Amino acid sequence: MLMDCVRGDDAMLTEASRHLVEAGGKRFRPMLVLLASHFGDPAASGVVPAAVVVELTHLGTLYHDDVMDEATVRRGQESANQRWTNTVAILTGDYLFARASDLLADLGPEAVRIQARAFGRLVRGQMQETVGPRPDDDPLKHYLQVVADKTASLIAVSGQFGAMLSGASSHVVHTITSACEKIGVAFQLSDDILDIASETEESGKTPGTDLREGVRTLPMHHVLGGTGSGPDDARLRDLLVRDLSEDDALHAEALTLLRAHPAMD
Ligand code: IPE
Ligand code: IPE
Ligand code: MG
Ligand code: MG
Repeated sequence: MLMDCVRGDDAMLTEASRHLVEAGGKRFRPMLVLLASHFGDPAASGVVPAAVVVELTHLGTLYHDDVMDEATVRRGQESANQRWTNTVAILTGDYLFARASDLLADLGPEAVRIQARAFGRLVRGQMQETVGPRPDDDPLKHYLQVVADKTASLIAVSGQFGAMLSGASSHVVHTITSACEKIGVAFQLSDDILDIASETEESGKTPGTDLREGVRTLPMHHVLGGTGSGPDDARLRDLLVRDLSEDDALHAEALTLLRAHPAMD
Protein backbone atom coordinates (compact mmCIF):
# COMPACT_ATOMS: atom_id res chain seq x y z
CA MET A 1 0.00 0.00 0.00
CA LEU A 2 2.89 2.37 0.80
CA MET A 3 4.44 1.81 -2.63
CA ASP A 4 1.07 2.21 -4.37
CA CYS A 5 0.56 5.57 -2.65
CA VAL A 6 3.64 7.07 -4.22
CA ARG A 7 2.85 5.98 -7.76
CA GLY A 8 1.43 9.12 -9.36
CA ASP A 9 0.73 10.51 -12.76
CA ASP A 10 3.82 12.71 -12.83
CA ALA A 11 7.10 10.97 -13.58
CA MET A 12 9.29 13.31 -11.52
CA LEU A 13 7.03 13.17 -8.43
CA THR A 14 6.85 9.39 -8.68
CA GLU A 15 10.59 8.98 -9.05
CA ALA A 16 11.46 11.43 -6.27
CA SER A 17 8.90 9.97 -3.84
CA ARG A 18 9.90 6.39 -4.49
CA HIS A 19 13.52 7.32 -3.87
CA LEU A 20 13.30 7.35 -0.05
CA VAL A 21 10.49 4.82 0.24
CA GLU A 22 12.67 2.30 -1.57
CA ALA A 23 15.68 3.26 0.54
CA GLY A 24 13.80 1.66 3.44
CA GLY A 25 14.36 3.25 6.82
CA LYS A 26 13.40 1.63 10.12
CA ARG A 27 9.63 2.05 9.61
CA PHE A 28 9.42 2.69 13.35
CA ARG A 29 6.16 4.66 13.27
CA PRO A 30 4.13 2.14 11.21
CA MET A 31 5.53 -0.59 13.44
CA LEU A 32 4.10 1.23 16.48
CA VAL A 33 0.70 1.48 14.76
CA LEU A 34 0.70 -2.27 14.14
CA LEU A 35 1.95 -3.13 17.63
CA ALA A 36 -0.60 -0.90 19.34
CA SER A 37 -3.38 -2.41 17.21
CA HIS A 38 -2.92 -5.66 19.14
CA PHE A 39 -4.71 -4.03 22.07
CA GLY A 40 -7.82 -4.27 19.91
CA ASP A 41 -8.49 -6.10 16.63
CA PRO A 42 -5.30 -5.85 14.51
CA ALA A 43 -7.27 -6.91 11.41
CA ALA A 44 -9.60 -3.87 11.66
CA SER A 45 -9.81 -2.06 8.34
CA GLY A 46 -8.23 1.26 9.39
CA VAL A 47 -5.04 -0.16 10.88
CA VAL A 48 -2.86 -0.66 7.80
CA PRO A 49 -3.94 2.63 6.14
CA ALA A 50 -3.11 4.44 9.41
CA ALA A 51 0.35 2.83 9.39
CA VAL A 52 0.84 4.09 5.83
CA VAL A 53 -0.40 7.57 6.80
CA VAL A 54 2.17 7.97 9.57
CA GLU A 55 5.02 6.74 7.36
CA LEU A 56 4.00 9.07 4.50
CA THR A 57 3.75 11.99 6.90
CA HIS A 58 7.15 11.13 8.35
CA LEU A 59 8.65 10.81 4.86
CA GLY A 60 7.31 14.22 3.87
CA THR A 61 9.01 15.74 6.91
CA LEU A 62 12.31 14.02 5.99
CA TYR A 63 12.33 15.57 2.50
CA HIS A 64 11.73 19.00 4.03
CA ASP A 65 14.11 18.46 6.96
CA ASP A 66 16.98 17.60 4.61
CA VAL A 67 16.44 20.89 2.78
CA MET A 68 16.50 22.76 6.10
CA ASP A 69 19.56 20.88 7.38
CA GLU A 70 21.30 20.96 3.97
CA ALA A 71 21.75 17.21 4.41
CA THR A 72 23.29 15.26 1.55
CA VAL A 73 22.65 11.69 2.74
CA ARG A 74 19.43 10.05 3.97
CA ARG A 75 18.69 6.37 4.55
CA GLY A 76 22.12 5.61 3.12
CA GLN A 77 21.23 7.27 -0.20
CA GLU A 78 21.72 10.72 -1.62
CA SER A 79 19.05 13.01 -0.15
CA ALA A 80 16.49 14.30 -2.66
CA ASN A 81 17.76 17.88 -2.37
CA GLN A 82 21.26 16.65 -3.16
CA ARG A 83 20.22 14.31 -5.95
CA TRP A 84 17.82 16.78 -7.59
CA THR A 85 17.24 20.26 -6.11
CA ASN A 86 15.68 21.89 -3.05
CA THR A 87 12.62 22.66 -5.17
CA VAL A 88 12.12 19.01 -6.10
CA ALA A 89 12.60 17.94 -2.46
CA ILE A 90 10.10 20.51 -1.15
CA LEU A 91 7.47 19.62 -3.75
CA THR A 92 7.96 15.90 -3.13
CA GLY A 93 7.46 16.44 0.62
CA ASP A 94 4.27 18.36 -0.13
CA TYR A 95 3.10 15.59 -2.45
CA LEU A 96 3.62 12.98 0.27
CA PHE A 97 1.53 15.06 2.70
CA ALA A 98 -1.20 15.24 0.07
CA ARG A 99 -1.09 11.45 -0.35
CA ALA A 100 -1.26 10.99 3.44
CA SER A 101 -4.27 13.33 3.69
CA ASP A 102 -6.04 11.45 0.94
CA LEU A 103 -5.76 8.15 2.81
CA LEU A 104 -6.58 9.79 6.13
CA ALA A 105 -9.90 11.09 4.81
CA ASP A 106 -11.19 7.49 4.78
CA LEU A 107 -10.33 7.09 8.47
CA GLY A 108 -12.79 9.78 9.56
CA PRO A 109 -12.74 13.31 10.99
CA GLU A 110 -11.31 12.33 14.38
CA ALA A 111 -8.25 10.74 12.75
CA VAL A 112 -7.87 13.75 10.43
CA ARG A 113 -7.91 16.13 13.41
CA ILE A 114 -5.43 14.06 15.43
CA GLN A 115 -2.96 13.99 12.55
CA ALA A 116 -3.46 17.69 11.77
CA ARG A 117 -2.74 18.67 15.38
CA ALA A 118 0.34 16.45 15.59
CA PHE A 119 1.59 17.88 12.33
CA GLY A 120 1.05 21.40 13.68
CA ARG A 121 3.16 20.48 16.73
CA LEU A 122 5.86 18.98 14.49
CA VAL A 123 6.12 22.14 12.41
CA ARG A 124 6.16 24.29 15.56
CA GLY A 125 9.02 22.16 16.94
CA GLN A 126 11.03 22.57 13.74
CA MET A 127 10.36 26.33 13.80
CA GLN A 128 11.36 26.69 17.47
CA GLU A 129 14.53 24.71 16.81
CA THR A 130 15.31 27.08 13.92
CA VAL A 131 14.61 30.24 15.91
CA GLY A 132 16.30 28.99 19.11
CA PRO A 133 15.54 29.91 22.72
CA ARG A 134 14.82 33.52 23.68
CA PRO A 135 17.33 35.13 26.07
CA ASP A 136 15.10 34.47 29.09
CA ASP A 137 14.32 30.84 28.14
CA ASP A 138 15.99 27.90 29.89
CA PRO A 139 17.91 26.37 26.91
CA LEU A 140 17.50 22.79 28.15
CA LYS A 141 13.77 23.24 28.66
CA HIS A 142 13.51 24.76 25.19
CA TYR A 143 15.42 21.80 23.71
CA LEU A 144 13.16 19.23 25.40
CA GLN A 145 10.06 21.08 24.17
CA VAL A 146 11.45 21.09 20.62
CA VAL A 147 12.16 17.35 20.81
CA ALA A 148 8.67 16.58 22.09
CA ASP A 149 7.02 18.71 19.42
CA LYS A 150 9.08 17.84 16.36
CA THR A 151 9.40 14.10 16.96
CA ALA A 152 7.30 12.76 19.85
CA SER A 153 4.13 14.26 18.36
CA LEU A 154 4.00 11.88 15.37
CA ILE A 155 5.30 8.89 17.35
CA ALA A 156 2.52 9.43 19.91
CA VAL A 157 -0.03 9.55 17.09
CA SER A 158 1.32 6.26 15.75
CA GLY A 159 0.48 4.46 18.99
CA GLN A 160 -2.80 6.36 19.28
CA PHE A 161 -3.93 5.39 15.76
CA GLY A 162 -3.07 1.73 16.30
CA ALA A 163 -5.03 1.54 19.52
CA MET A 164 -7.92 3.73 18.38
CA LEU A 165 -8.50 2.17 14.96
CA SER A 166 -8.32 -1.35 16.32
CA GLY A 167 -11.15 -0.50 18.70
CA ALA A 168 -9.21 -0.59 21.99
CA SER A 169 -10.89 1.10 24.98
CA SER A 170 -10.42 4.84 25.46
CA HIS A 171 -8.38 4.15 28.60
CA VAL A 172 -5.96 2.00 26.58
CA VAL A 173 -5.82 4.58 23.77
CA HIS A 174 -4.94 7.29 26.28
CA THR A 175 -2.28 5.21 28.01
CA ILE A 176 -0.62 4.14 24.75
CA THR A 177 -0.61 7.73 23.48
CA SER A 178 1.23 9.07 26.51
CA ALA A 179 3.64 6.12 26.58
CA CYS A 180 4.48 6.69 22.89
CA GLU A 181 4.99 10.41 23.52
CA LYS A 182 7.72 9.46 26.02
CA ILE A 183 9.18 6.88 23.63
CA GLY A 184 9.26 9.63 21.01
CA VAL A 185 11.31 11.94 23.22
CA ALA A 186 13.77 9.10 23.93
CA PHE A 187 13.89 8.32 20.20
CA GLN A 188 14.99 11.87 19.31
CA LEU A 189 17.52 12.01 22.19
CA SER A 190 19.03 8.84 20.82
CA ASP A 191 19.00 10.22 17.25
CA ASP A 192 20.85 13.29 18.56
CA ILE A 193 23.50 11.06 20.17
CA LEU A 194 23.81 9.05 16.93
CA ASP A 195 24.30 12.29 14.98
CA ILE A 196 27.50 12.78 16.98
CA ALA A 197 28.69 9.24 17.62
CA SER A 198 27.83 7.13 14.60
CA GLU A 199 29.27 6.83 11.11
CA THR A 200 27.26 7.04 7.88
CA GLU A 201 27.32 3.25 7.37
CA GLU A 202 25.42 2.88 10.63
CA SER A 203 22.99 5.80 10.56
CA GLY A 204 22.60 6.36 6.80
CA LYS A 205 23.19 10.08 7.51
CA THR A 206 26.20 12.41 7.77
CA PRO A 207 27.64 12.60 11.29
CA GLY A 208 27.90 16.04 12.87
CA THR A 209 24.96 17.54 10.95
CA ASP A 210 23.50 19.11 14.11
CA LEU A 211 26.88 20.70 14.97
CA ARG A 212 27.26 22.03 11.45
CA GLU A 213 23.74 23.48 11.42
CA GLY A 214 24.12 25.03 14.89
CA VAL A 215 21.40 22.80 16.39
CA ARG A 216 22.31 22.36 20.06
CA THR A 217 21.49 18.89 21.29
CA LEU A 218 21.63 17.38 24.79
CA PRO A 219 25.38 16.58 24.99
CA MET A 220 26.18 20.12 23.76
CA HIS A 221 23.91 21.60 26.44
CA HIS A 222 25.76 19.51 29.04
CA VAL A 223 29.14 20.75 27.79
CA LEU A 224 28.02 24.38 27.71
CA GLY A 225 26.30 24.23 31.10
CA GLY A 226 28.96 22.03 32.72
CA THR A 227 31.83 22.94 34.97
CA GLY A 228 34.62 20.96 33.22
CA SER A 229 37.82 23.02 33.39
CA GLY A 230 40.31 21.03 31.26
CA PRO A 231 41.78 22.56 28.09
CA ASP A 232 39.51 20.41 25.89
CA ASP A 233 36.46 21.68 27.78
CA ALA A 234 37.40 25.29 27.21
CA ARG A 235 38.19 24.69 23.54
CA LEU A 236 34.96 22.76 22.94
CA ARG A 237 32.85 25.40 24.67
CA ASP A 238 34.50 28.02 22.47
CA LEU A 239 33.78 25.98 19.32
CA LEU A 240 30.16 25.29 20.28
CA VAL A 241 29.29 28.97 20.32
CA ARG A 242 30.86 29.55 16.89
CA ASP A 243 29.42 29.12 13.41
CA LEU A 244 30.83 25.78 12.23
CA SER A 245 28.88 25.66 8.99
CA GLU A 246 31.58 27.12 6.74
CA ASP A 247 34.77 25.72 8.24
CA ASP A 248 35.36 21.97 7.80
CA ALA A 249 38.49 21.89 9.98
CA LEU A 250 36.78 23.57 12.95
CA HIS A 251 33.74 21.35 12.50
CA ALA A 252 35.91 18.21 12.51
CA GLU A 253 37.76 19.40 15.61
CA ALA A 254 34.49 20.08 17.45
CA LEU A 255 33.09 16.67 16.48
CA THR A 256 36.22 14.87 17.70
CA LEU A 257 36.22 16.74 21.03
CA LEU A 258 32.50 16.19 21.54
CA ARG A 259 32.72 12.47 20.80
CA ALA A 260 35.39 12.10 23.50
CA HIS A 261 33.65 14.34 26.06
CA PRO A 262 32.12 12.81 29.22
CA ALA A 263 28.89 14.70 28.39
CA MET A 264 28.22 11.91 25.86
CA ASP A 265 27.76 9.45 28.77
C1 IPE B 1 14.52 10.44 11.51
O1 IPE B 1 13.58 9.47 11.83
C2 IPE B 1 13.99 11.75 11.97
C3 IPE B 1 13.82 11.80 13.41
C4 IPE B 1 12.70 12.16 13.95
C5 IPE B 1 14.92 11.46 14.29
P1 IPE B 1 13.93 7.92 11.74
O2 IPE B 1 15.16 7.66 12.55
O3 IPE B 1 12.72 7.15 12.11
O4 IPE B 1 14.28 7.74 10.19
P2 IPE B 1 14.02 6.49 9.24
O5 IPE B 1 12.56 6.49 8.94
O6 IPE B 1 14.46 5.25 9.97
O7 IPE B 1 14.85 6.77 8.03
C1 IPE C 1 14.17 16.19 12.53
O1 IPE C 1 15.20 16.00 13.45
C2 IPE C 1 12.93 15.62 13.03
C3 IPE C 1 11.82 15.75 12.05
C4 IPE C 1 10.68 16.19 12.42
C5 IPE C 1 12.02 15.35 10.66
P1 IPE C 1 16.64 15.73 12.87
O2 IPE C 1 17.07 16.84 11.97
O3 IPE C 1 17.56 15.39 14.01
O4 IPE C 1 16.41 14.41 12.00
P2 IPE C 1 17.56 13.72 11.15
O5 IPE C 1 18.72 13.50 12.07
O6 IPE C 1 17.88 14.67 10.05
O7 IPE C 1 16.95 12.43 10.69
MG1 MG D 1 17.83 16.67 10.02
MG1 MG E 1 19.18 14.02 13.83
